[in-house]
Amino acid sequence: MSNSNDKILILDFGSQYTQLIARRVREAEVFSEIHPWDMDEAAIQAFQPSGIILSGGPNSVNDEDTFAAPTCIFEMGVPVLGICFGMQTMAAQLGGAVEEGVTREFGYAELVTSGDSSLLRGIEDKAGGLLDVWMSHGDKVTALPEGFKIICSNDATPIAGMADEARKFYALQFHPEVTHTNQGTAILSRFVHEICGCARDWNMPHYIDEAVAKIREQVGDEEVILGLSGGVDSSVAAALLQRAIGDQLTCIFVDNGLLRLDEGEQVMDMFAGNLGVKVDRIDAEKVFLDALAGVSDPEEKRKIIGREFVHVFQAEAERLPNAKWLAQGTIYPDVIESAGGKNGKAKTIKSHHNVGGLPDTLHLKLLEPLRELFKDEVRELGVALGLPREMVYRHPFPGPGLGVRILGEVKKEYADLLRRADAIFIEELRASGWYDKTSQAFVVFLPVKSVGVMGDGRTYEWVVSLRAVVTQDFMTAHWAELPYSLLGKVSNRIINEVRGINRVVYDVSGKPPATIEWE
Ligand code: XMP
Repeated sequence: MSNSNDKILILDFGSQYTQLIARRVREAEVFSEIHPWDMDEAAIQAFQPSGIILSGGPNSVNDEDTFAAPTCIFEMGVPVLGICFGMQTMAAQLGGAVEEGVTREFGYAELVTSGDSSLLRGIEDKAGGLLDVWMSHGDKVTALPEGFKIICSNDATPIAGMADEARKFYALQFHPEVTHTNQGTAILSRFVHEICGCARDWNMPHYIDEAVAKIREQVGDEEVILGLSGGVDSSVAAALLQRAIGDQLTCIFVDNGLLRLDEGEQVMDMFAGNLGVKVDRIDAEKVFLDALAGVSDPEEKRKIIGREFVHVFQAEAERLPNAKWLAQGTIYPDVIESAGGKNGKAKTIKSHHNVGGLPDTLHLKLLEPLRELFKDEVRELGVALGLPREMVYRHPFPGPGLGVRILGEVKKEYADLLRRADAIFIEELRASGWYDKTSQAFVVFLPVKSVGVMGDGRTYEWVVSLRAVVTQDFMTAHWAELPYSLLGKVSNRIINEVRGINRVVYDVSGKPPATIEWE
C-alpha cells in the first residue's frame, strides 16, 4: 500500500536472505512483496511490478529439476535484478553459461567495479571503485548472455556482476541485502529509485493514512472484535483499528492469571484509559487455574490454556452479536509463501492466529490489518500511532504465559511469586541498560525447595532461575553474558523482597541444545 502504485516483486528461490531483500527495499521507502519463484505469469502481470528481484537460493542451475524464473519477466519491459542464484538463472535463461566453481566462495570479498553501470554508478568503499561485499556461492557465471557486460569482478569471480543496460537487466553474484555488504543498501536503492523509477512513499505516515482508509472501506459501519493480549502485534492492531473505526472496535482481553505483574492494569490503562478503546477485560484466572490443577505435562498445559482461551473468548464474543469481523495481528512473515512453490514439496503457508486457533465457529470475517508488515514495521507503526516505545519494543511473551515458566503443575502461589521475581529482574535489566541488549529475559519458577539461612533462622524455600538470551530469530540463541554485579543485585533483591524464594540461579544454556523457555 503506497501512494504511487510503485512496487517491487521479489521472486523467492529459497535463500535464507529473501526476507532481508524485502526489508531493504522497504527501508528505501518502496513497497515490496515476496512470492514463490514459480508465481503464475498471469499473477505476475496483475501485480504490475515496477521492478523484479530474483533472490538467491540453494539450487544449482545445472541441476536436473532446477528452479527457473518465469520467462515472462524477461519480456515485460520491467527492470530485473538477479542476486546470487538469481544472477545464475538469469544468465542461464538468457543464453550465458554457469559452471560449478572449484571452490565455494563464502564470506567477505573485495571486488572492483568496471566501466559505468546504472546500478553501481558512484558506489565504492575505497577509491578506484573497490567494493567490500558478502559472497556465498558455489556456482558462477562463466559466459555472459548476449547484450550483457561485466560490471564488477575479482580474480576468483571474474563475472561478479553483469548488466544489460538496454533491457535494464542487472545481476550480482554477491548479496547486497546483508549488512556485511557495506554499500548494499545504496545499491538496492539505486535499483529501485534510479533504475525502476519508484517513488519514496512507503513510510509510516503514508501507511497509516492508507491503512485507515482501507480498513474503513472494508468494514463500513460493521463492528469488529479483537483479542488483545498485551503483546506487540495485537496492541498495534488495536491502536490502528481505533484510529480507523473508533467505537466500532471492541477488544477482548482475557486475563488468564498467567500474565506478568500488573499487566492487566497496564493494558487497561493504556487502551481503555489513554487511547479510549472499548476493552472487555475478562478475569478468567480461576477458570484457567482450575483447568490446570494437577496437570504437569508441558504440552498438556499448553493445550489446556489454548482450549480455555477459545472457550472464554468465544463466550464473550457471543455477547457481541453485532460483531461481523474478527481482527487478528497476523504479520507479513506469517503469510509469506515458502520458496517450495507449487512444484516444490509441501506448499506451506503458515496461518498464524495470535489469539490461538479461533475463529471458524464464530462465523466472523477475518480482518488482518498488519498483514503487509514486517515486525520492525509493526513497531514503527506502533510508535507512529502513539504507543509508548517501552510497550512496542517489549520482549516477546509466549501465549501460554507463566504457564510454561512454572515447571510442572501451575499453582496460584507459584504464579504470584514468579510475577514478583520477574518484575524485579526486568526492572534491573531496564535500569542497567541490558533490557535492550537482550532479546528475551524472564524468571522461571522451579518447584524445588532448598535450604537457606536468613538472619539466625534456617529457611526452606523455592528456587528460581533467571533466563536471558540474545538471538536474531529465536531459532538459535546464546545466553546473555550479564555482568556478575547485575546478577548479584537481582538475586539479592529477589531473595530479600520476595518472601518464599531463597535461592536464585542463572541459566547458562544455549539453544540448541536447550530451548529458550524451560517448557
Ligand atoms: P523456545 O522455548 O522454543 O521458544 O526456544 C522460542 C520462542 O517462542 C516462544 N514460545 C512460545 N510462544 N506460544 C507462544 O506464543 C508458545 O507455546 C510458545 N513456546 C515458546 C518463546 O517465548 C521464545 O520467544
